[in-house]
Amino acid sequence: MTAVNWEQFYQNQAPPSCLDEVGKNVTKFCAKHQNQKIVLVTSGGTTVPMEHNTVRFVDNFSAGSRGSASVEYFLKAGYAVVFLNRLNSLQPFIRHFPKQELFDCLDVSDSQQGPQITVNARKGQKLVRILKEYKQVSKEEKLMSVSFSTLSEYLWLLRVISQELNACKKHALLYLAAAVSDFYIPESKLPTHKIQSNVQSLQVSFNLVPKMLEPLVSLWVPDAFVVSFKLETDESILISKARGALEKYSHKLVIGNLLHSRKYHVLIVSDAEEHELRLSPQEIEAGKEIEEKIISELVKRHDDYLNQS
Ligand code: PMT
Repeated sequence: MTAVNWEQFYQNQAPPSCLDEVGKNVTKFCAKHQNQKIVLVTSGGTTVPMEHNTVRFVDNFSAGSRGSASVEYFLKAGYAVVFLNRLNSLQPFIRHFPKQELFDCLDVSDSQQGPQITVNARKGQKLVRILKEYKQVSKEEKLMSVSFSTLSEYLWLLRVISQELNACKKHALLYLAAAVSDFYIPESKLPTHKIQSNVQSLQVSFNLVPKMLEPLVSLWVPDAFVVSFKLETDESILISKARGALEKYSHKLVIGNLLHSRKYHVLIVSDAEEHELRLSPQEIEAGKEIEEKIISELVKRHDDYLNQS
């Protein structure tokens, strides 16, 4: 496996065409919400293409549940939110209406003026409540959404957004919940066309993706309150891995989670302690989300950080 440093990665991977525009839009967004708390939430999984004309790619499990739910709680806590999300992953507000549920909240009838759509009195209450929240956020222009698909797009966009957020100094919080691939095939090694199946076996060689937390914390947003996530499947290494990341990158917090319990149990790891957040069976039954607890804890810690001289 080949390792390159973060600068070489950016030299060798072409930027997405929207990069400059996204940078300008984030600058405007920061100016609009000047001196207010602002958060970058990253969400969903990154793809790693196997061909330039991509038919096949390597993906991971993340649906963007953590990120999309967290956006709503940050908005409720008064933050302006830049949401860097995987295309077609779960989105704030609309995530409450999976499959055809939105249609079930509405009725349609014919009248002399033409078809009329009304909110179903019984099933539509949730729609009304969430629509009102969404409309308020839209009116106040508190949510900016940027989408990516590939690992390379994600890392380019992460860099430009972080660099623009640097203007917000300590008001900026970075909440890095995206599931970022650790392996990729460099563009220079990708075949142009679809890999043919008339071979005995297929050997693919991946390079190691440099950890972007390093330049992010030390160069791009040195004053921001940076929170990364650590995902493991083996409980016995979770805390040591989270601690290792904190020591290596010197950011503020690592939120440790295990694949199979991530929806109801996380560990907030700081230099000083490990703080456990858990949903009780009753809370799960009542539909409470662990992100509500996570964001409430982060808001307190970000406020303390802002109040430090
Ligand atoms: O979307 P859900 O289904 O709700 O799942 C949520 C989640 C499990 C994906 C989320 O809670 C989570 O743990 N996200 C981080 C997953 C991950 O990439 O973990 P990691 O151990 O590979 O990376 C740790 C940190 O390093 C991450 O914050 C990542 O932003 C950062 N990283 C990763 C790779 C890389 N090349 N550079 C990085 O800086």
